[in-house]
Amino acid sequence: MLILGIESSCDETGVALVDAGVTGTPVLLAHALHSQIEMHQAYGGVVPELASRDHIRRVLPLMDEVFRQSGRGLADLGLVAFTRGPGLAGALLVGAGLACAMAAALGKPTLGVHHLEGHLLSPFLSADPPQFPFVALLVSGGHTQLMRVDGVGRYQLLGETIDDAAGEAFDKSAKVMGLGYPGGPALSRLAESGRADAFKLPRPLLHSGDLDFSFAGLKTAVLTQARKLGDELPARRADLAASTEAAIVEVLVRKSLTALQQTGLHCLVVAGGVGANRHLRHQLNQACAQRGVRVHYPELHLCTDNGAMIALAAAMRVQAGLVPAFDGQYRFDVKPRWPLDDVQTPAALSMAAAS
Ligand code: KG4
Ligand code: ZN
Repeated sequence: MLILGIESSCDETGVALVDAGVTGTPVLLAHALHSQIEMHQAYGGVVPELASRDHIRRVLPLMDEVFRQSGRGLADLGLVAFTRGPGLAGALLVGAGLACAMAAALGKPTLGVHHLEGHLLSPFLSADPPQFPFVALLVSGGHTQLMRVDGVGRYQLLGETIDDAAGEAFDKSAKVMGLGYPGGPALSRLAESGRADAFKLPRPLLHSGDLDFSFAGLKTAVLTQARKLGDELPARRADLAASTEAAIVEVLVRKSLTALQQTGLHCLVVAGGVGANRHLRHQLNQACAQRGVRVHYPELHLCTDNGAMIALAAAMRVQAGLVPAFDGQYRFDVKPRWPLDDVQTPAALSMAAAS
């Protein structure tokens, strides 16, 4: 079945085509992406209204591009998938509206996909796909969660951040250092030339014994340190970046290991934008190798938001029989706030079908 995926939850417009057999890993045929980062940079963060308008401008040309790349036509489509949430309401509505309009014109079904389910399953498109069950560390700009994943749609939240997300900690610290938006990748590059032990920064909740995270205090500590440095900041920026990165990464690694230990699982999946961080990958690889744990990541270019992960999640839901029967209606809604463990499980779905 040919599945079109549309992602428009935040500041990236992503479109992709995936081909899914009855079983086996779905194949990514084509994907195209437009990042709005440059547009939002002038404002130091995402401006929701500008994001929505830009999605409208970009999404159809991107769609043309994936059909051209894949050599397939609209008539071949079996399902149109879109990100239903969580994300910016106006931005989500662009993808949802377009998906439903297209599907209605073609007489095909639609499927609203959870953005984090997309991230979570994205390593299945890599050369080294994971196997269920696994622990997933979801680290993006808006979320930091540890999940136990027993199969498609079978997600149990183990712990999450009680305030800022890891990506937010990277971005806000980078802003303090004058590194622009989004600061995560820039901070990480700068950190490579700095000393991680230069500044003593807090590791919040490191020894809490549970699997929750907190990054707000760390961000404040970075701000305080930057103020203390004053005129010296430009010369010490690389050291401060390396110390900040080390603090965030140490907490993420420690909590992931605790989650593996508590669940007794031996497979870890890391997904979301912060999963692209080289220091995090290095530290996790080392710690997991020592413990006989396999770590899986999405391909680097599929770590941040993209349409491929949405088409893939839809394909894996179809294969798992987790798509409600199509009722021929094209009503849709979006869910700006939507806990991942709220998505339909096989049990909930079969109960709904039986009633
Ligand atoms: O998953 P994503 O594209 O969007 C959300 O769903 O939020 O993640 C974006 C986040 C941003 O906070 C960005 O700064 C961070 O991922 N990020 C990184 C790196 N690449 C992206 N943080 C640290 N190191 C990186 N290399
Ligand atoms: Zn994301």
